[in-house]
Amino acid sequence: MNVVVAGSGIAGLTAALHAQEAGHRVTLVTKGSLGDGCTRLAQGGVAGMYGERDSAAHHAEDTMAAGAGHADPAAVQALVADAGARIAELIARGVAFDRDEDGALQLGREAAHRHARIVHAGGDATGAAIATALVDAVRRTTITVIERAFLLDLVVVDGAATGVRLLRRDALTELAADAVILATGGAGQLYAHTTNPHGATGDGIAAALRAGAAVADLEFVQFHPTILASGPPFLISEAVRGEGAALIDDHDRRFAFDSHPDGELAPRDVVSRAIARQAAIQGSPVRLDATGLGGAVLMRRFPTIDRVTRARGFDWSREPLPVTPAAHYLMGGVVTDLDGRTSLPGLFAVGEVARTGVHGANRLASNSLLEGAVFGARAAAALAPSTAHSPGPRRAATVAVEAAPPSSSSPTPPFSRAALQQLMWEAVGLLRSETGLVDALATLRSWSASTADPATIAEHEDANLLLLAHAAATAALIRTSSLGAHHRIDDPVPENAHARPLASILESV
Ligand code: SIN
Repeated sequence: MNVVVAGSGIAGLTAALHAQEAGHRVTLVTKGSLGDGCTRLAQGGVAGMYGERDSAAHHAEDTMAAGAGHADPAAVQALVADAGARIAELIARGVAFDRDEDGALQLGREAAHRHARIVHAGGDATGAAIATALVDAVRRTTITVIERAFLLDLVVVDGAATGVRLLRRDALTELAADAVILATGGAGQLYAHTTNPHGATGDGIAAALRAGAAVADLEFVQFHPTILASGPPFLISEAVRGEGAALIDDHDRRFAFDSHPDGELAPRDVVSRAIARQAAIQGSPVRLDATGLGGAVLMRRFPTIDRVTRARGFDWSREPLPVTPAAHYLMGGVVTDLDGRTSLPGLFAVGEVARTGVHGANRLASNSLLEGAVFGARAAAALAPSTAHSPGPRRAATVAVEAAPPSSSSPTPPFSRAALQQLMWEAVGLLRSETGLVDALATLRSWSASTADPATIAEHEDANLLLLAHAAATAALIRTSSLGAHHRIDDPVPENAHARPLASILESV
């Protein structure tokens, strides 16, 4: 089969390699350079290596609990069942995960994991190690690589995806395919503050929406709790809290326990809201105190964070770092079955662009690289001539685009990407309300003409962001109850409503 893979993070690279090894003719198209994107920036690691008292079943339970019960158990089962095989594959492809002196893999712990089960490389440079190894592997194959190719749209003929339409150096190109695998990542650029690179503009989800594929759960956006609150967004890995760092207020008090019995190691959505609330109360960023870990450990275990924070004037071995949440990960996306098939025959989706069901309403730390590897491989294995007429995903899809409510009469600012990002940050961010969402939708609708006839890549990206902003705000308005990362202040639920204190779980295993 002729297979086009769009996107070159861990999901796209894995899908391309597996498809090529299965004998398909693969073309890999990517917006920037091969391997650019979110994967390369990932610090934490890959969850799924189980020590003596741990198991895939425990990992599945933790994934379900972090996802506030909204995850699909079958998808979670598929994720954890293949974790060991995919980590072994990464090692075989050249990823040098960190090891103890005796050669055993070092296992890190992050929030909402009951055990240390996360493999990492270069301390906090896991994503870079994976991207480098997989890019090298792709370069050694006959996979055709097309870089700096912007995905304009899917080609759909007779209700099936038959290729992609690309914009390259101002020229339109069409590539025909028997199957298209979307692996274009998420849409962090919807927000004024994000850990995502500039290219994370939701191009694949927008193209899938325009092609009529089912998309769901766009209201579930993960805000990472600890981004350095000084200079351009820079992530301070959750693994730092996993190693024992504490969040403190302006009286040096560990406030995270006010919200959840697991304190700093509560699910990410809970910790992010606790930080935002405390920062609002004290009128300044909260701080992450890692001084207790000692300078030598910090430098060895987190060399990237050590280097960047020092370059920005902080010595985190002596002083706590100011931190604040930022948009990090989209749990929703193009709806798929357990093998990446979407509702559009011939179209697969893997990685952050997909809504496989593994993350529910809030992703468990270090499950994203794992998801990319597991479902990239599964989608490639499911490729067959018959997929062009596949039955589509098992689960009913919730398409998030619905009619917008009546517009408000207040004047709206002119459209710009920055204005959209600020609007999303304020109205469709950590905390949402009906009035805020209604007003935001009115503003978004008033901007629709501004992106009606895109020509340049930047204009296409703006159009994609506006489409997804509208879909996400609509989904957030429709979901009137708080759940996981979707928090409605007009339907407040106690932060520990889904709490299962890890201490009590540990006693039972
Ligand atoms: C982190 O290192 O905190 C990010 C890892 C993740 O997003 O899972």
